[in-house]
Amino acid sequence: MTKPVIAIYPGTFDPITLGHEDIVRRAARMFDQVVIAVARAHHKKTMFTLDERVDMTRQALADSPNVRVHTFEGLVIDFAQSIGAHTMVRGIRSMTDFDYEFQLAGMNRRLAPHIDSVFLNTLDVHQCISSTLVREVATLGGDVAQFVSPCVLKYMKASASARQ
Ligand code: COA
Repeated sequence: MTKPVIAIYPGTFDPITLGHEDIVRRAARMFDQVVIAVARAHHKKTMFTLDERVDMTRQALADSPNVRVHTFEGLVIDFAQSIGAHTMVRGIRSMTDFDYEFQLAGMNRRLAPHIDSVFLNTLDVHQCISSTLVREVATLGGDVAQFVSPCVLKYMKASASARQ
């Protein structure tokens, strides 16, 4: 039996947006399994806890049978190796993303030459989305229904009222 081809899609997902979901769903058509790797994210101050980010991500992708959600901390290539993934999927929204991703992929390749990075271009409609902007718009009372899944929107609203 051949081994399933596993790809990871790492990020902070604070929260997961429709832009992320689009990348995951497209990756799920290309690979046997896609593991969304939710970073503990010591590099960023997050609005949602790790458990909340995992919960939202699981709910958003509940309809994709070959997508799993895991957490990780430390180097992303170490996590990839620990689950037998040889491919890392990243979304590209702009040339600025490309510059950054190119550097990240180069460093990851030096650290783990057998792990490849695959870039998927983000759909035009999602190009303006980032988790930070979604949080900002929501915090200031704007409608973010067009940027996140209904279950994520519900989660964000519940969490906002719990914080008040
Ligand atoms: N649609 C919409 N938004 C998108 C997107 C898409 N397709 N792709 C990315 N974004 C957004 C993200 O939400 C994020 O927004 P934010 O900055 O407002 O939170 C932003 O674009 C940047 O995304 P990304 O580069 O994926 O950052 P991240 O913080 O979500 O994840 C890690 C970065 C965790 C993958 C990276 O820091 C990492 O691998 N860390 C582990 C440590 C490590 O191995 N370091 C060495 C790397 S060489």
